[in-house]
Amino acid sequence: MKNEIFSENNPILVQKSGPLHGSVTVAGAKNSALKLMAACLLAPGKFTLHNVPAIADVKWMSELLEHMGASVTFNENQLKIEVPESLTPEAPYELVERMRASIVVLGPLLARFGQARVSVPGGDDFGHRPIDMHLRGLEELGARFTTSHGYIEAETSGLTGTRVLLEFPSVGATENLLMAAVLAEGTTVIDNAAREPEISDLADFLNQMGAEISGAGRSVITITGVKKLHPAEHTVIPDRIEAATYLAALGVVGGEIEIKQARADHMDMLIRKLNEMGMSISPSVEGLQASADKRLDSVDISTLPYPGVATDYKPLFVAMLSVAEGVGIVTENIFSGRFRYADELVRIGADIRIEGHHAVVRGLPALSGAPVRAHDIRAGAALVVAGLAAEGETRISDAYHISRGYQDLVGNLRSLGANISYS
Ligand code: UD1
Repeated sequence: MKNEIFSENNPILVQKSGPLHGSVTVAGAKNSALKLMAACLLAPGKFTLHNVPAIADVKWMSELLEHMGASVTFNENQLKIEVPESLTPEAPYELVERMRASIVVLGPLLARFGQARVSVPGGDDFGHRPIDMHLRGLEELGARFTTSHGYIEAETSGLTGTRVLLEFPSVGATENLLMAAVLAEGTTVIDNAAREPEISDLADFLNQMGAEISGAGRSVITITGVKKLHPAEHTVIPDRIEAATYLAALGVVGGEIEIKQARADHMDMLIRKLNEMGMSISPSVEGLQASADKRLDSVDISTLPYPGVATDYKPLFVAMLSVAEGVGIVTENIFSGRFRYADELVRIGADIRIEGHHAVVRGLPALSGAPVRAHDIRAGAALVVAGLAAEGETRISDAYHISRGYQDLVGNLRSLGANISYS
């Protein structure tokens, strides 16, 4: 890819910080940008995506598109993708292993080329992550799958619209099905579809490419297949998880900040919970205005598909609850193994007990900085947040996880007055 994306792997050093002040601008949503990039595979020609975050995952998805034969240029958050008439419809092990979201190329490749070869994604720190719903839904549209030597070999003599009922509103399965159904013969109905804002963003982009999708953002999405799609230009929605990270940082050290570009309508439940904890958050002309002027109160949190509390917010809540007044019970309902970072928070003094898929977090007046390790993007961000409230220094290694999902978390927090830097 022309114009390399910054990826930093030096440890992050965080010192106890005072109240935050000023404004930051959130980047485009990682979880949307990656899927929009995959959607470009659906038509030959030149696409332009604006507000694309300069993060490692975007770089890897670019490498995947390039591996197939597309050319990709990144410049100041603008991504230009040129897709040729013919492609190698393959996602190799090295790229899928690095970034699980690569699986979303399966739907568009099948739809456009009638075949795909995609490495089977492994598990990760979230626990076991199957793709059975992706495959079953695509099979219902007329795809056939075999697996050999670690690869899913997919083919179809033509996809045909049908009603697909998802067992669970899986984000990835909904996206793969959307991108397959847009070129299928006839009408597809995805029932129990995921409702995340990133799904609506993908549907908007596909509609700009000539697709006929209605109902995105609701549980039933209807797609009328078209013969051909064409390139489009689109601006990625803002990253609600990045916005949540600044809110969590504010929550633990206090202050008053503006988060530009953040969309309150994408973060209703989060804002409700943070208000319950004692923060004050309201929409501003350019995004969100938020303040925290006292120690947070504990709340109970239960992760659910959108519009419930996102599982990606959860590590941030656990970090906030670690220094809040009282006890909060956090229940994970989406992923099996998503509490590993809790051990790292315990290293900096947090009082967290894990019971199955619940975490019982007893808030303490202070934490105590220590060397810790980031196991994934949001877990890394949670350590940063907790470090801001910990006496002394917190040293976060494996910080590359953080640059997978944040364009400049360290620089942005520093601009708000946080005591944070790369070592
Ligand atoms: C996406 C997000 C991730 C977020 C998650 C839930 C991206 C790149 N990642 O992941 O940040 O935490 O949504 O909001 O957008 N499942 C199955 N079979 C399947 C598919 C999913 O059992 O075929 C299960 C998963 O193991 C998990 C649950 O369904 O327990 C939700 O997964 P899903 O919504 O698909 O998450 P992702 O799309 O992988």
